[in-house]
Amino acid sequence: MSGIVGYIGNRSAQEILIHCLTNLEYRGYDSAGLAISNGDHIEVRKEKGRIQDLEASLQLDTMQNGTLGIGHTRWASHGNPSAENSHPLTDEHEQFFVVHNGIIENYHVLKKELLSEGYSFKTDTDSEVIPHLLSKYNTGNFVETVRMVLPMLKGSFALVMMSALHPDMIIGISQENPLIVGFGESQAYLSSDISALLSYTKETYPIKNNEMAILTRDDIFIETVDGKQVHPDKVAIEWDEEEILLNDYDHFMLKEILEQPSSLKSTLNNRIKNKQVYLPEAELFFREHPYQQFRKIDIIGNGTSYHSGIIGKSIMDKLLSFPVEVSLSSEFTYEHGKLSEQHLVIVVSQSGETADSLTAIKEAKANGAKTIAITNNKRSNIARQADCIIPMNAGPEQAVAATKAYTSQITVLSLLAIHLCKKTEEPSPNFIKELIEAVQTLPEIVKQTLVMTEDAIDSFAQVTNDQTNLFLIGRGLDYVLALEGALKLQEVAYLHANAYAAGEVKHGTMALITPGVPVIALATQPHLKDKMVSNIRELKTRDGYVVGITNVGDDALTDVVDEIMYIPETHPLIMPIVAAIPLQLLAYYSGTVRGYNVDRPRNLAKSLTVE
Ligand code: F6R
Repeated sequence: MSGIVGYIGNRSAQEILIHCLTNLEYRGYDSAGLAISNGDHIEVRKEKGRIQDLEASLQLDTMQNGTLGIGHTRWASHGNPSAENSHPLTDEHEQFFVVHNGIIENYHVLKKELLSEGYSFKTDTDSEVIPHLLSKYNTGNFVETVRMVLPMLKGSFALVMMSALHPDMIIGISQENPLIVGFGESQAYLSSDISALLSYTKETYPIKNNEMAILTRDDIFIETVDGKQVHPDKVAIEWDEEEILLNDYDHFMLKEILEQPSSLKSTLNNRIKNKQVYLPEAELFFREHPYQQFRKIDIIGNGTSYHSGIIGKSIMDKLLSFPVEVSLSSEFTYEHGKLSEQHLVIVVSQSGETADSLTAIKEAKANGAKTIAITNNKRSNIARQADCIIPMNAGPEQAVAATKAYTSQITVLSLLAIHLCKKTEEPSPNFIKELIEAVQTLPEIVKQTLVMTEDAIDSFAQVTNDQTNLFLIGRGLDYVLALEGALKLQEVAYLHANAYAAGEVKHGTMALITPGVPVIALATQPHLKDKMVSNIRELKTRDGYVVGITNVGDDALTDVVDEIMYIPETHPLIMPIVAAIPLQLLAYYSGTVRGYNVDRPRNLAKSLTVE
């Protein structure tokens, strides 16, 4: 999983590519590299580390003259993070230069064959087979050579390529892996996603499977791989550059946590009118595929999106009268029950590019199921696969850890549950009315929660600075929330945080509770509070240090916990949105107090495009 870019125009390719890569850095930050053509020859620079390391090295050794080039920021999948393994990669004669995102699944076979023919490899990457194959099958015509080699590559990949034999041309390929053309004034761009292009153009074209983009000084050509011309339907970028700037914040993660009142407002925009839910995308879909056709819903996702899915399932369980199951996409693809046109599969993915979810949606479709994608990227691969797209409209999320995406995903799932419920027998009109009212007030409630909890969480994070373990417990929806809180703490504070269903702790985990061990007890579900109090008492008997999170005005926990944090009350079904706020803040402050780069946690990347 990586970010790849290309530029051709009349400005310094080095400057533009470095800037584009900086905006793609959340896709991978193990190493970075550039290849730039000055018209005569192509030069390559690579560095282990972040884009800023590459940029610093370029201050001593500039490639300023070139106005055409390609670049890469890497999340290592094959071959450890090092300058050697970073891209651009080239062949022995340095004729072809390639940056690659994704995976070449048959690289073993290809590499073996190339090795037996005397080709020597300098890296441990799967990607290096590509420049060698281009060299082996070189026809003298760059476009023709690429056409010849492409059918030999299996897997999902996006490629941006240059050739020393045609130094005024860049070729881009998108095969199940995103690559976007950006159209500028006398210049053109290629990028893994739109965030790199926001400063340069609003006019884009996402390259489709079996197409190639050929960027030359005169024009941009989109052709099918078998040579037919394509007239690209240009797509305007809706996001503004302002939205991806850090502005006065120290980190994107904090910016995105604090943005949630407005991201939720945008998710809800025009979707609740006159106390009714409007989801035109779903309306259209169910007109074509009547609701009665379905027997079961499967919700799938990974990581945070999986957690949103579990909450979505709980909401649907309360509102609908047929089975809803939730699975990890990475498991669902290979272990699912019988699927048919009577199944509705809902894929939740912020990026819309996660390979595990992409393969899962394809598997669902291959078995006849109908699919809905809930995503923040309407033009992503997952969105393209789905029968119906319900956009989250949360705005760009730059930090690797998902925060505003999570709250918007649950909001969309709640709206969809209410929408579906209109089509069945409603549990009780009053229940739905109250839920809709609560969903509508989410931006305001989340705003209040941020004000109520930020300082207290900051000081709790300082106090737990010396801890390496932390437990989170809850029952029902609070347990799901605990899972999400633990994931955030692992991800950005490198804390060994684990979540448990509160009633389960006594069945084994209690052995780990020693004096002072921090436990966060979530108690926001009214019908489960008494049981939670008993479970907290069990922990206090073993001298665990318990911080309770509960609703304002509720004193059930006051006497049993060491510290208490209050959050506003709302409908219990959407409490996981409100209660996520202090946990997101805790992860953020725990990560920063330990001195970690919370926006770029080690070994991770956003939108993982390998399975
Ligand atoms: C955690 C996080 C990840 C993602 C997961 C799925 O903070 O961000 O767990 O939720 O990788 O990504 P999407 O939603 O893009 O499919």
